[in-house]
Amino acid sequence: MAKDKINVDTLRQMKAEGRKICALTAYDYPSARILDEVGIEILLVGDSLANVVLGYETTLSATMKDMARHTAAVARGATRALVVADMPFLSYHPSAREALRNAGRLLQSGARAVKLEGGSDLAATVRQLVSAGIPVMGHLGYTPQSVHLFGSHVVRGRTEEEGDRLARDALALQEAGCFSIVLECITASLAARITASLQIPTIGIGAGPDCDGQVLVLHDILGLVFGPKLKHVKVYADLKEPIRRAVASYMAEVRGGVFPSPEQSFED
Ligand code: KIV
Repeated sequence: MAKDKINVDTLRQMKAEGRKICALTAYDYPSARILDEVGIEILLVGDSLANVVLGYETTLSATMKDMARHTAAVARGATRALVVADMPFLSYHPSAREALRNAGRLLQSGARAVKLEGGSDLAATVRQLVSAGIPVMGHLGYTPQSVHLFGSHVVRGRTEEEGDRLARDALALQEAGCFSIVLECITASLAARITASLQIPTIGIGAGPDCDGQVLVLHDILGLVFGPKLKHVKVYADLKEPIRRAVASYMAEVRGGVFPSPEQSFED
């Protein structure tokens, strides 16, 4: 294993030193290579694969087969970053045994950790995975696999009662052995409170600036999504236009007999 590979201890140390952790989703080999080269700490093979890349409406359509295949592609592109694979919908319920089998499959595909959505209800499952040597990242707040229960991108933790429950869930996940917790779409003040209460790092998405790190969906920051822009997303480059222009130039050259030129052709 390369000496400077990011692992769970690196992340814990970064929190202790107040250094922010950068995470992005990745679903394939080329993007994993680029992100890894730039120095990202965590590559999350999110089950957002289902909606972002495969065109489904929600993350519920991601299967173990999808996750294993895309995890393997990302792992082949990552030399340094910690590759975390999402456990897809129903792959860790109802039994911890099923969770162990599926998490094991993701690690055998190249992940070095798994992520699952839920709170203290999952403590026993987290314990079992960790005792088998599988690092587990938690995910609290808005949990996309429960979209039909709670609605889409509803900000969680606005009431005192819900905020207290999420704070208790975070402590339960830490106690069960999670090495980090994603906090999605909760108020910035609640995220700050949870972050201060934990020894393990929090990674925020729509959870304000006080988390120990941030994660976003790669295609969101590159403008490669087709729905409305969500409030927590910042578009750093809009790649739709350059792609449209490149494809239009190619088509114009093919139609005009300009491509391929002698430069791209083989002589006798
Ligand atoms: O699947 C996903 O993209 C996620 C987010 C935290 C980015 O879980």
